[in-house]
Amino acid sequence: MSPNQWTVAITREIPEAGITPLREAAAIKQWPHDLPPTPEQLETLLQDCDGAITLLTDSIGGPLLDRLPKLRVVSNFAVGFDNIDVPAATERGVLVCNTPDVLTAATADATWSLLLAAARRIPESRQYVRDGHWKTWGPLLLLGQEVTGATIGIVGLGRIGKEVAKRARGFAMRILAFDPYQDSAFAEQYGVTYVPLDQLLSESDFVTLHVALTPETHHLIGPDQLRRMKSTAILVNASRGPVVVTDALVEALQSGEILAAALDVTDPEPLPADHPLVNLPNCIVVPHTASATVQTRDRMADLAARNLLAGLKGERPPASVNADDVLPS
Ligand code: DGY
Repeated sequence: MSPNQWTVAITREIPEAGITPLREAAAIKQWPHDLPPTPEQLETLLQDCDGAITLLTDSIGGPLLDRLPKLRVVSNFAVGFDNIDVPAATERGVLVCNTPDVLTAATADATWSLLLAAARRIPESRQYVRDGHWKTWGPLLLLGQEVTGATIGIVGLGRIGKEVAKRARGFAMRILAFDPYQDSAFAEQYGVTYVPLDQLLSESDFVTLHVALTPETHHLIGPDQLRRMKSTAILVNASRGPVVVTDALVEALQSGEILAAALDVTDPEPLPADHPLVNLPNCIVVPHTASATVQTRDRMADLAARNLLAGLKGERPPASVNADDVLPS
């Protein structure tokens, strides 16, 4: 099929960097609204498309793919792909792609922004000033937790977890990690000690989550795990909301079982504005923006487009989740 006969969907507005290469090669159907399409609207949008750039807000499962027999490539604009039933896609010969690496640094930087903001109570301090309470310097005013020299526990020492660890070296921290897949060369080079999860939870001043959402990591941090953490500990989540049991976290923050939390991701997502996590003074919630820099989102768009085009051409994409199972070897 000649390229300009392809039809591709883009399920939201994305940076131009991802659209230009597609425009030259295919007809584009783009979802024009700020909010994601409903499942029915998504199906209509993807109808008769050869490929699509999808977002983590689009749920792609087997039954939907069955109704879209023309669709051959699903190129997710995210490193995470828990919104896609990959085995179902593989079974149907649909290539699934994602955007690893290009967002690693931005996500690690954002993790540190959250960690430092929670440790030093930046949102509370800002509110204090805005509310007109700042009358004088105070020895006991808005005391936070020391980061330098503290212990950080990284749950999931993959690409992003490793970048978080590298930054922790700059704060002279003791670095613990939990990950079933161990990279001993990295651990040695950056002074990381692998420990069991329970040990990480009980010894860390900061626990930061960087696992993919899978059946094994769903609700990895629940009441028992929160109970093991120090009462002065801060939990950071920049992975996926359902890795943490939301009600258990609310309870732990309200009861003082842990000191604070800083969340890029939540369950559900978005959280309603009147949710306890949004309103607790010891919890920071940001709207899943860890990768949201101009430069990173351009790179994600570019990679998603290149993945899609390669897949449509029957070539191996720069980043795919199931190319080994779908493409001829
Ligand atoms: C991802 O890529 O999976 C993030 O959650 C959004 O950048």
